[in-house]
Amino acid sequence: MTDSTSLVPRAAIRAMPAYKPPQEGRRGLRLDFNENTEGCSPRVIEALRQTSAQALAEDLARYPEYDAAEAEIAAFFGHTPATALVTNGVDDAILLAVTTYLDPGSEAIIVTPTFAMYRFYCQQAGVVPVEVAYQEYEVETGVREFRLSIEAVLAAVTARTRAIFIATPNNPTGNHTPETQILALARLLPECLIFADEAYADFVDPAAASSAGYEGLLPAVEETPNLLVARTFSKAYGLAGARLGCLFAHPGALPWLRKAHSPYNVNTLALRCGRAALADAAWAQAYCIEAVASRAVVEATLTELGITYWKSQANFVLFDSGDRTTALIAGLRARGVLIRDRRGDWPGAARISCGRLETTRRACAAFTEVWREL
Ligand SMILES: Cc1ncc(COP(=O)(O)O)c(C=O)c1O
Repeated sequence: MTDSTSLVPRAAIRAMPAYKPPQEGRRGLRLDFNENTEGCSPRVIEALRQTSAQALAEDLARYPEYDAAEAEIAAFFGHTPATALVTNGVDDAILLAVTTYLDPGSEAIIVTPTFAMYRFYCQQAGVVPVEVAYQEYEVETGVREFRLSIEAVLAAVTARTRAIFIATPNNPTGNHTPETQILALARLLPECLIFADEAYADFVDPAAASSAGYEGLLPAVEETPNLLVARTFSKAYGLAGARLGCLFAHPGALPWLRKAHSPYNVNTLALRCGRAALADAAWAQAYCIEAVASRAVVEATLTELGITYWKSQANFVLFDSGDRTTALIAGLRARGVLIRDRRGDWPGAARISCGRLETTRRACAAFTEVWREL
């Protein structure tokens, strides 16, 4: 960072490493950020098209109004605005949890390897991130799995611990933590906030889910005072660019979160898109079923190539390409397929997103070709 300013940032900002967001111009088959490979439901585009120019101009000119949209989104997930709050994606929900509950100098346990934003927002606030590693198991030859150890989490708790962040399914590993484990932690540590990030919940057994998707921890919110559950429209609903999420909390906690939330963090167009997406939830559910089938295609390709992978319940698979990772990523990029280098999380690891079968088949054909040439 340059020092050409007389303004001195807070010590916490000076001390934290810079986060490098996705680069511009990610052209080709984008299987690097776990986005929806198709886009969003055509009904969302239709809803925007059918909005008259005057209504759109009003939407853009006016500050957002939340009540009706929030009630509708909350109801879809089986909640009311007493226990649900729309957010600018899950990222905003993480920031809100930190802002509302964590004092500088307190500690937050982060189960790793995981999504970078828990550490990012904690460091930004002067909260100390304490890492606890998932335990790794070999479940069959060439297939591994990460699992949460409650004992390891409890061993890291100190008098300063105020929060535990768990993504389930987790990114980049794909493992799903059983709800019973998360609720056990919530019960054992009643003064500690348990943040369950369910950004990828829609990909956990979508064929068995109701029209409102897999329930995960949502039904537990009302009777668990220290549990926050976050959902997003970025993955299954294909609205990552719109930035829309929803945070669920106990009715005793929600008013505090609402009080701390920036009043206009979610924009009107995002709400319009979100409501249209939920009105066509069957599209998202069908997409998720296909993404899960794609995951099986990716796993079969990896097995055929003798590449070890980690079992996933999300719309991506983490695998171990060892010392061939750089060449693999470059070779795929040359063929227009983007995957993500995850060696910062695990030695030799890379991650590939799963979406429509057609894109997955093309990606796997390119993958096989590149791998055999390495
Ligand atoms: C575990 C996890 N949580 C949250 C997010 C971000 O969600 P949103 O786009 O709703 O901010 C991601 C994005 O990749 C993620 O992997």
